[in-house]
Amino acid sequence: MTDNPDLLETYRTMAAKQLAIGPLAFLNGSAGAGLTQRANRLGFDDITISPRVLRDLRGGGTAIQLLNQSLKSPMLVAPIAYQTLFAPQGECATAMAAAAQGAGMVLSCQSATHMAKVQQAGEGNATWFQMYWQAAGRAATLKLADTAAATGFSALVLTVDAPVNGVRDAEITAAFRLPPDVTAVNLTNAPQPEFAPLKSGESLLFDRVASCLPNWDDVAWLCRNAPLPVIVKGVLSPADAALAVTAGVRAVIVSNHGGRVLDGVPAAIAALPAVVDEVQGAVPVLMDSGIRRGSDIFRALALGASAVLIGRPVMWGLVVNGAQGASHVLRMLRDELEVTMVLAGCRTIADITRDCVHLKR
Ligand SMILES: Cc1cc2nc3c(=O)[nH]c(=O)nc-3n(C[C@H](O)[C@H](O)[C@H](O)COP(=O)(O)O)c2cc1C
Repeated sequence: MTDNPDLLETYRTMAAKQLAIGPLAFLNGSAGAGLTQRANRLGFDDITISPRVLRDLRGGGTAIQLLNQSLKSPMLVAPIAYQTLFAPQGECATAMAAAAQGAGMVLSCQSATHMAKVQQAGEGNATWFQMYWQAAGRAATLKLADTAAATGFSALVLTVDAPVNGVRDAEITAAFRLPPDVTAVNLTNAPQPEFAPLKSGESLLFDRVASCLPNWDDVAWLCRNAPLPVIVKGVLSPADAALAVTAGVRAVIVSNHGGRVLDGVPAAIAALPAVVDEVQGAVPVLMDSGIRRGSDIFRALALGASAVLIGRPVMWGLVVNGAQGASHVLRMLRDELEVTMVLAGCRTIADITRDCVHLKR
């Protein structure tokens, strides 16, 4: 035990002891040399909090409205694939935890549990559906969006930063493979494009995969045709944020996928202010990647995020104690956000403005 024990770190350590080497590499691993994953954490250290004292805080709280939905706190569980790797009840346990804490939940399209079951477990809590552009094209992508809408999801999160997997040495070293009973059950009927065999000199990525990747016209088309508001996840550049707004998205998520895709990109928290400045309030800007404390949430909100998504920490809770563990992690983060708000003199989330923090560099 150190002089300064960290409760979330305890969950991380316990989860690491409980998981087999493959799922552990999948959960905690990062891309490349792990530079971006480390930067995601260090980025928060560069932001000091500038407290105000003796303010009237009566009647305050952490509640927000986001895309016409009420959340008890500005937190959503990030989309995480294949959660039955981490606990038998997988995504259902996470949905219960999010509902118990009044946090939103984004379900990955690579969920190992049927989306209707997860919706049911969340008991009408705010749930969004994350999807990738489907390789078979527009009709297949819209079909998945329609199914999510019919199942009761209230927004679509289109992840755009992972057209292919990053280079994940930890997974390769651990020889990680999904066990046969863990599959993307919501995608099994999705049609797959048929490729002719590669000719000599052709590249799998550039000559095959690239022909199935979407562009901004496709995003605009989805925004016009999808039955739900479309949010893009995985934007780091202000120029891309502007294109997303022009395409008609209803929110932008600044994220580097928790450092799992392109190693060497900046910390998401470092990229946030320029995106917020570019978007100028046209749509809400959310962020994820590296949030480990309620005070990190405070920093992100001060830099202009409307809400944050939490990824691995919720999964550590899930591994250690199922729905209760995931719920406890969300609770700890919310409690710490409340304490930070009171100590910084912020009564409501709207009071957390840019002058509440100072950027060291
Ligand atoms: C095991 C794992 C699986 C993930 N699966 C998805 C996914 O299916 N779709 C997606 O958009 N992001 C996925 N992500 C990225 C998260 O949504 C989120 O961006 C990231 O975990 C945030 O960083 P954090 O873990 O540091 O909080 C995954 C992340 C992890 C750790």
